[in-house]
Amino acid sequence: MVGNTFGKAFSVTTFGESHGGAVGVVVDGARPGVKIDTEEIQVQLDRRKPGRGGVASSRREPDRVNILSGFCDGKTTGTPILMILYNKDADSKAYEHLRNVFRPGHADYVYMKKYGIRDWRGGGRSSGRETAARVAAGAIARKCLQHRGISLLAYTRAAAGVWCREVKPDVIENNALRACEEKASKEMEARIANLQKQGDSAGGVVECRIRNVPPGLGAPVFDKLDACLAAAIFSIGAVKGVEFGTGFAAAEMTGSEHNDQMDGNGFLTNNAGGILGGLSNGEDIVFRVAVKPTPSIAHPQQTVDHEGCVRTVEIEGRHDACICPRIVPVVEAMACLVLENHIKRHAALMA
Ligand SMILES: Cc1cc2nc3c(=O)[nH]c(=O)nc-3n(C[C@H](O)[C@H](O)[C@H](O)COP(=O)(O)O)c2cc1C
Repeated sequence: MVGNTFGKAFSVTTFGESHGGAVGVVVDGARPGVKIDTEEIQVQLDRRKPGRGGVASSRREPDRVNILSGFCDGKTTGTPILMILYNKDADSKAYEHLRNVFRPGHADYVYMKKYGIRDWRGGGRSSGRETAARVAAGAIARKCLQHRGISLLAYTRAAAGVWCREVKPDVIENNALRACEEKASKEMEARIANLQKQGDSAGGVVECRIRNVPPGLGAPVFDKLDACLAAAIFSIGAVKGVEFGTGFAAAEMTGSEHNDQMDGNGFLTNNAGGILGGLSNGEDIVFRVAVKPTPSIAHPQQTVDHEGCVRTVEIEGRHDACICPRIVPVVEAMACLVLENHIKRHAALMA
């Protein structure tokens, strides 16, 4: 009911705030005997950490994962897995002047309206830091998927109005934006650096491709695979849109253009983005995510305080000038959680 748990067959409950003691997660439903090296979880957490060149915030969290349960001799035991990441580099002083002020574009106002109290230190639960817990859980789901030959890759397709024309997997982890094309990544960086100088920020588009998904995953009618993926991705802060395959462009296509025709080997095109009728069709699942510009910016902006008085705020501090590169591993993690849930549900239906 309260919205801190995702999934039923492979359930994930996250806890913690940006400037509290820790963030963490309880994963329940992971198959026993899955061999996981802690470093494999750590690799994913390190990908989410701030600190990739000029586009990222300068918060320096070690983000070392501590596994407190559900794990023995390098394997899952089938019991709940608790993973915790202690907050070591939180600087709440930087938020003191924002204690009574609602930051434009952030969740402060609505948290206050809903709960009548809010953790003003770094955004509390609405902070991007909460997603570290999801990434840790996603690393376990990813491992389960790997055993089935399913792999996935997300990357920044566009940022600050610059689009990558090609997807070059080798380039992705070697540039600050996690862009999939080198030339575009340089232009993105230059534009973002320029915006940052003006106290501003940039948005972008993250794309995700999932390979080797067997046909038939998804549960019509209310738990269609695309519906579940979209809900999972929309649960990530700063996400403003999700589209599959040709997405919104489909609205301008004709049926003969959009339909994916078939021959004896399968589909000839993939305009559907790998999902038909809410079920995977065996093609790559491809979706794109619209990410809004980082709300916390140094540019002066008008807002109100808790008493309703008009105030001007300039938000200094450690913020990403573009969130896309940090959202990439979170998108992958959420997609892994959705797929692992549907694999288990499908297996239970067929048992
Ligand atoms: C990984 C990640 C990092 C983020 N970093 C920042 C940040 O440095 N500064 C900021 O203002 N917002 C950041 N955000 C976005 C806010 O959390 C988000 O905009 C806010 O919670 C309001 O939610 P909404 O944009 O979905 O409406 C980040 C989000 C994610 C997922």
